[in-house]
Amino acid sequence: MIRTLRDLPADALAGRRALVRVDFNVPLAGSEVADATRIEASLPTLRWLLEHECRPVLLSHLGRPGGEPNPVFSLEPVASVLSELLQAEVRFVDPCDGEEARLASHELPMGSVLLLQNTRFLAGETANDPGLAERFGALGDFYVSDAFGTLHRAHASTAGVTKFIEPCVMGLLVERELEALSTLKDPPRPFVVGFGGAKISDKIDLMNAFLGAADCMLVGGAMANTFLRAQGFSTGRSLVEEEALDLASSILDRAGDRVRLPIDLVVTTDIGDPASRVWTVGVDAIPDDAAAVDIGPETQARYAEEMEGCGAFFWNGPMGLFEDERFAQGTFALARAAAKATDRGTFTVIGGGDSAAAVRAAGLMDAVSHVSTGGGAALEFLSSGQLPGIEALRSESPEPPK
Ligand code: 3PG
Repeated sequence: MIRTLRDLPADALAGRRALVRVDFNVPLAGSEVADATRIEASLPTLRWLLEHECRPVLLSHLGRPGGEPNPVFSLEPVASVLSELLQAEVRFVDPCDGEEARLASHELPMGSVLLLQNTRFLAGETANDPGLAERFGALGDFYVSDAFGTLHRAHASTAGVTKFIEPCVMGLLVERELEALSTLKDPPRPFVVGFGGAKISDKIDLMNAFLGAADCMLVGGAMANTFLRAQGFSTGRSLVEEEALDLASSILDRAGDRVRLPIDLVVTTDIGDPASRVWTVGVDAIPDDAAAVDIGPETQARYAEEMEGCGAFFWNGPMGLFEDERFAQGTFALARAAAKATDRGTFTVIGGGDSAAAVRAAGLMDAVSHVSTGGGAALEFLSSGQLPGIEALRSESPEPPK
């Protein structure tokens, strides 16, 4: 059984050091935090711990520094943002392993938080080195797993550490994420899934998992081009995943009429040129010198119609190159349709960094049921039903004290 924070008795909390693995892998612009969504998502757990008189010691990675210190990936800028959001003192210690970190964890006053430097500055983190995991374990009196976005990684701070500290529990963010994603295992029907993004091969496990479960799949993005080509349409200079054409045909064979493909597309002759012509064509009329960059208005309307009255909706991957506002209408239309469906009682889940960013850009974060903070982790959980970071909590087996 996996315990959550709320299962812990009061006497296991007061005054104790809570070693919390958070996912502060946030985008930076220079040394500024460019998007604080993941920091905000950690606040319920941190507030809960402070209210219960725990002393939170936070571990996180940021980026992929390759096992050595690199100032570009320092977590220091996160400390001040967290302090402001939490309205509490946040102490920062670099490095995250060693005597200074251990002392700082013991000396942390009640009401304050300790944030340690990037765990991936140490090679033992991604190698899940038991020695490092043991030293991480010594930084707290109990362990809280709240880095949902990193639970698909079996690293020293997400998995290995659970052998060296007890109890180990889920934090409130992980609990909320698992609850929302688990609903999709037996979803209210009809269950509609939106798939977009560039590659079918990147998402084939997830597509296979949903192929049996979904009543309808709405496809957009470059992925749709590959399906259209597999059906024999000529796709001009659109991005097509040539190696996945057979895969696309086999998905179409298996899913039959449950897969919906675009009926019209927005195309342009030069994606990089802001002055290039942008227009809409039927899928059977993509010019040889043009590339599809978004789903067209008729497709948008048809997809929104499919979502009317559905019981659950899951969406992963943008419908077009939404970072460019000329090609963002399809993605935003799907985000608006998701918000409308939520309003009517549909359970809507957005999983994946790009779709979450699109929902945020459309200002609709609070208008859908759940926006997952983990792209890779959400997809792995939905396709395999398991996450290494969660399994590590299940097999919690602390070493006997030496
Ligand atoms: C993410 O952003 O998906 C997580 O923080 C995991 O990061 P990673 O892909 O570098 O392991």
